[in-house]
Amino acid sequence: MSDVAVRPLGEDDWQDFRGIRLEALAESPDAFASGYAEEEAYDEDFWRLRLRRSARLVAEAPDGRLLGLVNVGQARGEEGPVPEIAEIFGLWVRPEARGTGVATMLVEAGARQARSEGKSHIAYWVGTDNGRAVAFASGMGFRPTDYRRAMRSPSGEESGEQEIAMTLPLGADRGAGFRL
Ligand SMILES: CC(C)(COP(=O)(O)OP(=O)(O)OC[C@H]1O[C@@H](n2cnc3c(N)ncnc32)[C@H](O)[C@@H]1OP(=O)(O)O)[C@@H](O)C(=O)NCCC(=O)NCCS
Repeated sequence: MSDVAVRPLGEDDWQDFRGIRLEALAESPDAFASGYAEEEAYDEDFWRLRLRRSARLVAEAPDGRLLGLVNVGQARGEEGPVPEIAEIFGLWVRPEARGTGVATMLVEAGARQARSEGKSHIAYWVGTDNGRAVAFASGMGFRPTDYRRAMRSPSGEESGEQEIAMTLPLGADRGAGFRL
């Protein structure tokens, strides 16, 4: 995968973002709280707003095909934004690129960005039933925390499943100081 490059998307790349995000929602409907039908209807202005709101990193093959996406934003806790913690979300890798290191490249790039912004930890909410994603995050050094929340389905209802917040320490504090 050394020929795969990770790059941040800018606002003018909104169609690339829309394309890969909709593919993710169509391919892995159970992994995300939002649904294809809802997001497919968003207009250009909203896609541009999303690109301004959080960083969107894509993994790109030499032929230009986008292989995966990770979003990096500000973590929010029970009382609002938590400035020292970044959050990754919406992680998705095209099925044929799974198990090849693309997901690792994306999260490493997200971690580099968060570290350069002075963040102490990354938070990652992941479905407790999503064995592959939990195993992937554990393999990257993400650690479990006490934080749990009900997982929402695209219709906004609770799906009966839970998400756990996992955390990747970026500095000296390995997790004891992690508060959402
Ligand atoms: C989550 C995702 C990005 C991980 O990328 P990936 O390329 O599949 O991850 P990797 O193959 O590098 O790592 C997965 C690990 O889980 C292990 N694994 C595979 N299937 C597993 C399963 N069903 N249960 C537990 N572990 C599993 C693999 O052995 C691997 O561990 P290893 O690196 O120690 O061998 C990717 O699978 C994906 O896009 N899934 C669909 C969308 C999704 O669920 N996103 C997360 C939403 S929070």
